[in-house]
Amino acid sequence: MSNTLTLNGAVCTFTPGETILDVARRNHVDIPTLCHLKDTVPTGACRMCLVEVKGARALVASCAAPAGPGMEIETESQRVVRSRKMNLELLLASGSHDCLLCPASGDCTLQALAFRYGAGGTRFARRRPAHAPDASNPFLIRDFSKCILCGRCVQACKEVQVNGAIDYGYRGAATKIVTRNDLPLGQSDCVFCGECLQVCPVGAIALADARKKPRQCDMTAVRSTCAYCGVGCQVDLHVRDNVVHMVTGADAAPNHGSLCVKGRFGYEFIRSPERLTAPLVRRDGELVPATWEEALDVVAERLGQVKAQHGADAVGVLTSARCTNEENYLIQKFARAVVGTNNVDHCARL
Ligand code: FES
Repeated sequence: MSNTLTLNGAVCTFTPGETILDVARRNHVDIPTLCHLKDTVPTGACRMCLVEVKGARALVASCAAPAGPGMEIETESQRVVRSRKMNLELLLASGSHDCLLCPASGDCTLQALAFRYGAGGTRFARRRPAHAPDASNPFLIRDFSKCILCGRCVQACKEVQVNGAIDYGYRGAATKIVTRNDLPLGQSDCVFCGECLQVCPVGAIALADARKKPRQCDMTAVRSTCAYCGVGCQVDLHVRDNVVHMVTGADAAPNHGSLCVKGRFGYEFIRSPERLTAPLVRRDGELVPATWEEALDVVAERLGQVKAQHGADAVGVLTSARCTNEENYLIQKFARAVVGTNNVDHCARL
């Protein structure tokens, strides 16, 4: 049998190994997901991606089910929609999803799906005990009352960043995402990369100062390149009123959404009043602002003096990963061709 199936009546081809969700996304069929995290092993935790496969006894989790030849799949049948709506109602009842006060409002997948399927939160009783929020991490707040236990943060920590600082803990209604020994995040193995923040589909993990910033949906994302090292990670700067309020990893090479702690949280220097805006030249023991012409004249004169007195190899040049390839090429060219030394090195990071 050829590798074809039908998706909502349309014939689609698939490659062996693809899941039903892969085939649907490739064919622009929107199947909602909460726990699915690209490039990680599907957990099937949220049951939001359930679809109806003709002949199957139960609804099938499309994120984990391999596509098969001849499958007849319905992604929005009455049965599917009823199941998704009930699932959403259970999730809404499981915590305090008060969207008015939630920093994720407007960017929350649960909120968007509740709206899409007309799900409210009053049919079921609250079924999970309240765990106190964890604000021990300087960058993040974990609000367990908003956690839907989708496990994306666990997968991001374990499979994407390969830190393994968090996992599921406890059992049944008391289940919670925990660190080793359920320590506060600030005292755990967490390296503060913020990958969990980026993948959380609700407001359970939020920026510590999120309430002082505009909502993400009210900001404009501007693509840029992180300048902390030579990897060249792609970032989205979330900007409002010409101020960068937040940084997220862009889903592009080389980082594909991931960032380190510096790239994600180290952006406040952008507006620091201590930033140098002009070259400084030391005069009478004091660093004073100068023009670029004056500064370059001082450097040229002093390098010339050192070379004349001690030879070219008395000069060494250190470059930086924060420079572009072109700048690093130019500085080694300057050292070898202008100064006449091969004393060129690179600090590897900053
Ligand atoms: Fe498939 Fe969560 S996305 S079960």
